[in-house]
Order: sequence, then structure tokens, then C-alpha cells
Amino acid sequence: MSASIAPPTPENIQRAADTLRAGGLVAIPTETVYGLAANASDPQAIARLFAAKGRPHFNPLISHVANIDSAAKQGTLTKGARELAARFWPGPLTFVVDTASTCEVCDLARAGLDSIALRIPAHPVAAALLQTFGGPIAAPSANPSGQISPTDAGHVAADMGNKVDLILDGGPSTEGLESTIIDCRTATPTLLRAGTISPEAIEKVWPNLKRGNEDPSAPRSPGQLLRHYAPRASLRLNARQAKAGEAMLGFGVIDGTLNLSPRGDLTEAATNLFAMLRSLDANYDRIAVAPIPHAGLGEAINDRLSRAANTVDVT
Ligand code: TXA
Ligand code: MG
Repeated sequence: MSASIAPPTPENIQRAADTLRAGGLVAIPTETVYGLAANASDPQAIARLFAAKGRPHFNPLISHVANIDSAAKQGTLTKGARELAARFWPGPLTFVVDTASTCEVCDLARAGLDSIALRIPAHPVAAALLQTFGGPIAAPSANPSGQISPTDAGHVAADMGNKVDLILDGGPSTEGLESTIIDCRTATPTLLRAGTISPEAIEKVWPNLKRGNEDPSAPRSPGQLLRHYAPRASLRLNARQAKAGEAMLGFGVIDGTLNLSPRGDLTEAATNLFAMLRSLDANYDRIAVAPIPHAGLGEAINDRLSRAANTVDVT
């Protein structure tokens, strides 16, 4: 069954907010590209989102918020972030900052990182939905992983129509390119992904912008970023049972100290992965992990687990 393309009437915006609250996926217009939106606080909805995109691993997602107060609730806005926000928000600019203690965005949406990417979109339909929904919305581009980003509702219907619950039509995206991403955790902000807001425009606010990677076709790999998060404990993968002193992270019939999904459901396992790793890491030095099938979301789970098991490269 294909999702219908809905005009952005107040009723449909309300319907979109209700769909998000119920754990559904809604394609939304933004000024950059169409986003595949899910409730950023709901790990099950985020797991569904990764599955719908067919992502081979869990990229950290951008959380979209309605206003600066909500941004400050999710992340610690540094001086650099506040000055850039004053100039460029709402708009096609995303900041990476440390997560705040009041952060409502789940671990899975942040790919287990202690940082968060935040953006206030300028598109009136995205803004209205954020206002009505009231919380942070995670939204990567609404295309299958590795394919071209959609810039109108028809693209989304063609590529993802059977994977989303609703498509809000807000006309063609005016920018057509994903937002510029700036890491604001460093004393001097660093450009992580080029976009339509140019380095020169940013340098009018922050003269010493560091160029992390200026090539829009090769944004800094989230895979590299994932290395920054690794449990303190050592991980032994594909384990059938725990050895003495190990905690066991089970899956399906291979039970353990904790079980990612006793019924062997990969979406449930993805939902629990980061929280369970964190919880075992707090109490054990060694963690054995049951085999996870490689089908569907299992590929992303295994990718994440093998990164977490490789603690040597952590910087
Ligand atoms: O224009 C856009 O930004 C679109 C529209 C829909 O808003 N959204 C978008 O979101 O491109 P997304 O989730 O696909 O962007 C994810 C990228 C990651 O690949 C990574 O480069 C960066 O955002 N990112 C997210 N969290 C990060 C973090 N904590 N640290 C560094 N980079 C992060
Ligand atoms: Mg994309």
C-alpha cells in the first residue's frame, strides 16, 4: 500500500503529528530536501526509520526542533552555536553540540554519541509540524540509503511510498541540498558538511572557521564518528554463552544478563542496542554478545557491534 500525498492543511499537519506520536514515519518538506521524519524520542520509531532507509549502519541523525529553547533543551549551545543560530536559524544550517542533561533525543537517533546535531528548518510546513508535534523530530533525507535525495513529494512517493505512513506536500524544496553542518563543540567551529550556506557566509560570524571537509559529495564519514563512542568494556561477538566474569547480551533463544529481543525481533534489538550496551558497560568489564542475523536491520546492528568491539582506535 502506498502512502497518499497530502496537502499541508491544518488537518493534515495535525494528522502528521498524531502519526509521529504513534511511532509512524512521515515524509516532510524542508527547504533543503524532503525528510523522513520520526519521533526523535522514540527508539522504536527510529529503528523503523533506519529499516525504511535500508541504512547499512546507524548514522547519527539530525534532530529538528521548533525553536531555540527546544534546541537548548537537547544540546549545550556554545557561544559559537548561539551566534550562528542568531544569524542563520531558522534555515539550512545544522550544529553539532554536546547533548544536554535534559536531552529528549534517544540514543539510537544519536547513534550512541554524546553529541547531537540540531537544526531549526525554515520551511513553513516543517515549522508548523514541529510546533504542533511539540518535541524533536529526527529526519534524514527521505530516500533509500545511497540514492538521490528527494526535493519534491513525487520523488518521495516514487522511492519510499510504501515505507511511509504519510507524505506532506510542501512544494519543491528551494535549496535542494542537505544543510551545512558545523561542529560547534570546538573553540573554533569546524565545517563538517558543506551546504548552501557557504563557509564565507559563516566566516562573517566566525572568522576562523576550520574546514573539516569541504567536499559535499564526501561528508565526513559518520563511521569515523562512531569510533568516538565505544564501550569501556571489551566485547566478544558471536558468543553462544558467557565465560566466567562476562556479562551476556543475548538475542532470541540465546538469553543473557540482558536480551536484545527475546522473540528474536531485529527492530526491537536495534531499539534496545545502545541502551543495553551502556547499561552492561556500567557494570561489567567484559561483554559477550550473542550472534545477530545479518538480514535486514541485522546488518546495521552487526556493523555497530563490530565498531564497538574495536576499541583500539578510540581517540
Ligand atoms: O538538510 C538536512 O539536513 C536534511 C533535511 C531533511 O533536514 N537532513 C539530513 O539529515 O541530511 P541526516 O540525518 O541525514 O544528516 C545526518 C548527518 C550525518 O551523516 C552526520 O554527517 C551528521 O549529520 N551528524 C549527525 N549527528 C552528528 C554528530 N553527533 N556529530 C557529527 N555529525 C553528525
Ligand atoms: Mg541523505
